[in-house]
Amino acid sequence: MTNLPQAALEDLLELARQAAHRSYSPYSRFRVGAAIRLANGEVVTGTNVENISYGLTICAERSAVVRAISQFGPEMRIAAVAIANLNGQPSPPCGACRQVLAEFIADGAQVVFPSVNGPRTMAFAELMPLAKEMKLK
Ligand code: THU
Repeated sequence: MTNLPQAALEDLLELARQAAHRSYSPYSRFRVGAAIRLANGEVVTGTNVENISYGLTICAERSAVVRAISQFGPEMRIAAVAIANLNGQPSPPCGACRQVLAEFIADGAQVVFPSVNGPRTMAFAELMPLAKEMKLK
């Protein structure tokens, strides 16, 4: 998988921002959106959904993965992920989300997320270097 052009990553980021507006986050008020571009070119978004039982909260990234499987089936592969929040804070994907993304990630996938210096693009393999050593089905 080759790197997506910058313009495509920016489009994905804009979809993540739009998804963040649909966040259900009355407890943290941290509004997050994620947009996943699949290897087949389709794009799926997700947002964080909180619960009064705080531990049941699902992050935007995992909500997008669940949606992608539901729409396109388990063979879908993730070519790029964009994450945005409306709070002006850094938010790289949490460890739990990295683990779930790893299950479906395509080789060479990129992740763009809010960092201290604005949107930052990294290879998924940099965010989770040993993911490929896990025995995936
Ligand atoms: N959250 C995400 O959805 N994704 C991230 O990358 C960081 C954290 C959510 C979980 C919770 O609803 C809120 O942000 C505060 O942690």
